[in-house]
Amino acid sequence: MYQSIILGSVLLVTLYVLKRMRDPKLNLPSLVRYKFPIIGHTFIFLTNSEEFLKQCRKEYGDIFSLYLWGEVKTFIGKEHLQEVLTKDDSFDAGRAFERLLPLNAMLKHLANFKNSTKVLKEYVINKLRTYTERMQKSLNLATRKYIGDCDEPKTIHNIYNIMTRIICIPIADIFVGQEISQYEEIINTFSEFTNDAVKILRIPPVLDFIYPGLQYYINSAILKLGIYNPAIKHEKVLIKHLKNQIYKRLQEKEKYGDSWKRPEDFLQDLIEEEGFDPNNNINYAEIAQKICLFIFVSIHTTASSCAHVIMDLASRPEHIQELYEEQLEVHKEADENGTLPFETLNNMRKLDSFIKESLRLTQNIATLPHVTLKDYTFANGLQIPKDRPVTLYIDDVYLDESLQGPNPKSFEPFRHLGTNAPVTKVSKNYLLFGGGKHACPGRQLAINEVKFFLHNIILKYNLRTESGKIEEPKMFGPMKLPSDAGIIFEKRK
Ligand code: HEM
Ligand SMILES: *[C@@H]1O[C@H](CO)[C@@H](O)[C@H](O)[C@H]1NC(C)=O
Ligand SMILES: *[C@@H]1O[C@H](CO)[C@@H](O)[C@H](O)[C@H]1NC(C)=O
Repeated sequence: MYQSIILGSVLLVTLYVLKRMRDPKLNLPSLVRYKFPIIGHTFIFLTNSEEFLKQCRKEYGDIFSLYLWGEVKTFIGKEHLQEVLTKDDSFDAGRAFERLLPLNAMLKHLANFKNSTKVLKEYVINKLRTYTERMQKSLNLATRKYIGDCDEPKTIHNIYNIMTRIICIPIADIFVGQEISQYEEIINTFSEFTNDAVKILRIPPVLDFIYPGLQYYINSAILKLGIYNPAIKHEKVLIKHLKNQIYKRLQEKEKYGDSWKRPEDFLQDLIEEEGFDPNNNINYAEIAQKICLFIFVSIHTTASSCAHVIMDLASRPEHIQELYEEQLEVHKEADENGTLPFETLNNMRKLDSFIKESLRLTQNIATLPHVTLKDYTFANGLQIPKDRPVTLYIDDVYLDESLQGPNPKSFEPFRHLGTNAPVTKVSKNYLLFGGGKHACPGRQLAINEVKFFLHNIILKYNLRTESGKIEEPKMFGPMKLPSDAGIIFEKRK
């Protein structure tokens, strides 16, 4: 009896000491107080994150922690968030993202696609000039198809869906080429892949209340076992067309030799990689999954950006005249077919500022999740442990007058004019594309499309909201989604 009490006590003390050694006292940020056990801040964060975060920032300072979905998450304000973006030996975005959406479980070959950013830059971004004409042609064609002439005023309610359909046409053209991007099936895959992939996010991570990370294990197991994997049907469509197309290209190259007209697109660059051997089991699934990755990062982001800007244009018709005059001037450089040279993108200065302002005020209140790779000490001395999820409190940057100029939260379309900082420039006061080494490598492509698209829209139509009022984005937790309020398009007379 005695012995077991002594033994038990020794064991307890040992365990306690061991735990203390493993978990040295850190100077942790304050955990914002909460009333409900388990639920913590989850409910208020989902329903009113804007006011709630503002209040937390005021009471607890630049770095504070919340208890969300059964887990402590640390929020980082304007004074320290650059540390998260630039110290990539301490903060990892990939792992945080994977926990949200197990993309690597959905697309298994991505494990071998380590140089995706380099590939995107070399095969696409460095060649944007050569895509100028094709991009405009396919955008204009798609605009005619999905928005139409609008001789009579036409009301569009689901502008985000329409933008997805429009944006995926030039992107499919660049990635899989002019020939197979004509197939309805391929265009459907480009427009639907992202929405299908994120369906798994519709299950709220309730299992994380039981054990943080449990939802991730279950979701990725479901995907890996193929019980439910939304990527499979899209992969099949891509593989079918890729097989025909690659075969055709190899044949034609052989047949025509030097007089063969080399297709200019991402697919052709992949085929010409050193590791690609046409005589030896071509790995079509791997090619298809590389394309799926780029669909995932490009279509939804670009389409929702376009939808936000168009809603802001329709909400503020008083600024359209000024933009119209600029675009008329720019259009003088167009060729006989109405195609603008690449350089004119730099002359759309007012439009650039308008886009930048619109995307600034529609960026999520808090986003860019990361996970710590080791214990980390911020410049102010606060510390967080390894494996801690952190989220950047973006709005803190956008509420600051010294970073944004006067009235930081009011929409001022020409706020950025003459600042020498176009929308694609990543900086301390503009976080749309993240920052540091990992800042979005596709941003030039995205913004070129938004500009070519809006050039055409502004010259062709008069816009207004159906309500006649300013339509704000829909809030979902800290996220801002494009409003589905009606927009009236009417042909300019
Ligand atoms: C307006 C549209 C877009 C927005 C707002 C956007 C935003 C972002 C953001 C915030 C990041 C994370 C950056 C960081 O961690 O610091 C990112 C990463 C990335 N984006 Fe974009 N993006 C857009 C369009 C595109 C397009 C069109 C492509 C390519 C076709 C693309 C490809 C990528 C890739 C490959 C990464 C991962 C980079 C890495 O991990 O190193 N994005 N994007
Ligand atoms: C990316 O990696 C593949 C091999 O995995 C290689 O063949 C290709 O040249 C690389 N691309 C770039 C742009 O570095
Ligand atoms: C205009 O389009 C026609 C037909 O597509 C083409 O033949 C011509 O070369 C184009 N003009 C220019 C300047 O690109």
